[in-house]
Amino acid sequence: MVRQHHDVTLEWPDADRETRTIAVSEDETVLEAAKRADIALPFGCRTGACGTCTGRLLEVDGAEPAAGDDGRSTVGIDGAFSYRRSPRALKDRHRDAGYVLLCIASPRADCRIAVGASVHTELVDNPWK
Ligand code: FES
Repeated sequence: MVRQHHDVTLEWPDADRETRTIAVSEDETVLEAAKRADIALPFGCRTGACGTCTGRLLEVDGAEPAAGDDGRSTVGIDGAFSYRRSPRALKDRHRDAGYVLLCIASPRADCRIAVGASVHTELVDNPWK
């Protein structure tokens, strides 16, 4: 059987680290694939409950993810990943904004994701968002 996988590019917005691209198969999570490639990403519960592993989708298959005020997105943010279980740590508005829980998300398209501890901070730091 041919294993389907997708290229996932990881970027650290606030750290002086090189961007890395890893192949993630459809039956593994981004966190698992990163570990396999010896890339340390933050995580806690690994069950979608704590949000420590949160990443933010920057691009899907060469197009910027855009969720308009009318709720429509031009590239399906939801279509970019399949979740193993319910992503309880994210509110709907976070998911609409492209946030994704890397411990339970498997890619369904090539994509680029902002990762690292600062991405999780974005969810909680600004009360006006
Ligand atoms: S590690 Fe807790 S939600 Fe992913």
